[in-house]
Amino acid sequence: MTKFSLALPKMGCGTWAWGNRLLWGYSPDMDQELQAAFDFCVTAGITLFDTGDSYGTGRLNGRSESLLGQFSQAYQGRNQDKIILATKLAPYPWRLTAGSMKRAYRSSSERLQRPVDLVQMHWSTANYAPWQEKNLLRGLAELDDADQVRGVGVSNYGGDRLRKIHQWFTDWGVPIKTLQVQYSLLSQDPVTKYGVKEVCDELGIQLIAYSPLALGLLTGKYSLDKPLPKGLRNRAFKQILPEMGQLQACLQELMAIHQKTMAQVALNWCICKGTIPIPGAKNLAQAQENAGALGWRLSAAEVENLDRAAASVSKTMLQNPFQSQ
Ligand SMILES: NC(=O)c1ccc[n+]([C@@H]2O[C@H](COP(=O)([O-])OP(=O)(O)OC[C@H]3O[C@@H](n4cnc5c(N)ncnc54)[C@H](OP(=O)(O)O)[C@@H]3O)[C@@H](O)[C@H]2O)c1
Repeated sequence: MTKFSLALPKMGCGTWAWGNRLLWGYSPDMDQELQAAFDFCVTAGITLFDTGDSYGTGRLNGRSESLLGQFSQAYQGRNQDKIILATKLAPYPWRLTAGSMKRAYRSSSERLQRPVDLVQMHWSTANYAPWQEKNLLRGLAELDDADQVRGVGVSNYGGDRLRKIHQWFTDWGVPIKTLQVQYSLLSQDPVTKYGVKEVCDELGIQLIAYSPLALGLLTGKYSLDKPLPKGLRNRAFKQILPEMGQLQACLQELMAIHQKTMAQVALNWCICKGTIPIPGAKNLAQAQENAGALGWRLSAAEVENLDRAAASVSKTMLQNPFQSQ
């Protein structure tokens, strides 16, 4: 397989909600709509799709990968050859050897109905079982070595841990292509506290921003005077919304200047920060709106204004407990 020298697109599409019934109300009736969102993205040049072998709840485990496989097999048209399927393998406690990651890879690849392009370690076990991690990462390196994937990435690593595992990968002769962290105007810890951008730039690793819309909060559609989504978003949104005035005002000013929506400005900010955002679209309309983040750029001064406004929000989105330092 050709090595992963091809350029990643400026923006990708996340698929956590695809197949996640308990948290996101997924039902098979949505499949047609999701296929339309997929088709639209590929045609628009949004060809990187991120999924995970843990996406899908209960019996639907792996459903997001299966749907993505189904959609990508069915798609015929522009940019078909540019589709990049990225999955994340979870370091479950029962996965202890390099072989267990390779078996997990094979299962994902079967659900995706093709070789995975970018295989990523879903999270670091550094915070609770640091001894578990090396074998699993070695499994990913061996997949790369055997040309079964086009690249290896990791997720939820901080700068220090990234440096450590980068040394392991260097010893194995395999590059780390990408690091995926939670990054948005409302979640900047991986960059500001754990220094991941600096380390990525130094080590030649592309940073991918997940949850770039703060789970929908940065689309402007949620407010305290309207019903909020249930579940884990409810509490987080109730805490953050009262503090968002200055940030919303700044976003609105930029929306007017650039004739863009809030989601488009928030995603463009991620792009201006040198990351590839992977917003999760649940339907065609959301995918279409998110695509409007491409093809233009906020100025450096506008990015700084947004940084200042974001700093006025003291509460951040819930942080991933697996994010390492
Ligand atoms: N590596 C990791 O540990 C990790 C963790 C989380 C996510 N991720 C990846 O990142 C991807 C995206 O993150 P995410 O889904 O958590 O958060 P997100 O992209 O910040 O938010 C996605 C949610 O926002 C709403 N939305 C999206 N576009 C919209 C639009 N244009 N207008 C209005 N609402 C819109 C939708 O929910 P509603 O319509 O219900 O509001 C959607 O489910 C995931 O799919 C996954 O691939 C990775």
